Amino acid sequence: MSLTPIGEPRHKITTATLRDQKLHHEPITCLTAYDYAAARLVDEAGIDMVLVGDSLAQAMLGYENTLSVTMDEMLHHVKAVRRGVKNALLVADMPYGSYQLDSKTAVSNAARFVKEGGAEVVKIEGGEKRADLIRQIIDAEIPVAGHIGLTPQSVNVMGGYKVQGRSLGGIEQLMRDAVALDRAGVACLYLEGIPREVAAMITAEVSAPTIGIGAGPECDGQVLVFHDILNLTFGPPAKFLRRYGDAAALITNAVQAFRADVRSHQYPSDEESYHLPKETKAGLDTVLARKRTMQR
Ligand code: KIV
Repeated sequence: MSLTPIGEPRHKITTATLRDQKLHHEPITCLTAYDYAAARLVDEAGIDMVLVGDSLAQAMLGYENTLSVTMDEMLHHVKAVRRGVKNALLVADMPYGSYQLDSKTAVSNAARFVKEGGAEVVKIEGGEKRADLIRQIIDAEIPVAGHIGLTPQSVNVMGGYKVQGRSLGGIEQLMRDAVALDRAGVACLYLEGIPREVAAMITAEVSAPTIGIGAGPECDGQVLVFHDILNLTFGPPAKFLRRYGDAAALITNAVQAFRADVRSHQYPSDEESYHLPKETKAGLDTVLARKRTMQR
C-alpha cells in the first residue's frame, strides 16, 4: 500500500484500513475535531481518523478537566462532526461516568454514539480492567478503541497528569494492559504519555494499530488535539506538542481589524451595502422631495 498523495481522491477509511496501514508501515494520522467546520477541514486534508475527544471539555467548553463533560454534550458535538466527515474514520470518546458504573449502561451509551451520533468507533480509557466491558461492547457490533498510559479521566487517581510506565512495575502493567485490550479485540489502541521505548515495545507486541500522543515515533500512528496544533489552547504546551499554525494570532488580527474598521466608519462600504432597485429609488426620491417642499 502506498501513501495517498495530498489532494488525491480518497477512499473511506475503516477499521480494516487501519490494520492494513499497520501491516504496511503506513503511518496513521488522527486529529480531534469538535464541530462541523473543523471536521470538514480535517477530513478534506486527508487525515485518516477524526476523534471527537472528551478534550472537548477544555478545548471547546472551558472546563478545567475532562471529568465534567456529559454524554449529551459529547453527542451534540459528535453529530456536528459526523455532518462534516466523509472519508475519515469517526471515533467518539466515551465521557467519564458513561461506562465506568455498569456494563449495561456502558453498552447502551456506546450504542447511542453509533445510532444517534453516527460514530464508527467508541473510545474507552483504561487497561486490563476494561477488557470484559470492551468485549461486551464489541459483542453489540460496536468497534472499540482502547486508551492506556496517561488516561486523563483518572487524573485524581494518578494525582495529576503524569507520564506513566517509567518504572519496571509500570512497564509490566502497561504491557499487561495492552495485551489484554488487544486480546479483547480493540480496533486500535491510543497510547498517551508513556516513554518512547515502552510504546515501541507495545507497538511490536500487539496486532491492533497503536496511535500515540506523547508516546514517541514508533507508534503506528499519531494523534494531536486540533486546538493545540493551531495555538488555540491557553496555557503552556506539553513537551510532545508541535504547533503547525497560529490561529490565535490570525483570529486576533482579524477581530481587531473589524473593530477598527467599524469604529472609523470604514465598514461597511457602499459596495458592501444593499441598494434599492432604480424605480423604487426614483419613487422614494419623489416622496422625499415632496415632503421637504411641504415642510418649507
Ligand atoms: O480527548 C482526547 O483528545 C484524547 C486524545 C488526546 C487521545 O483522548
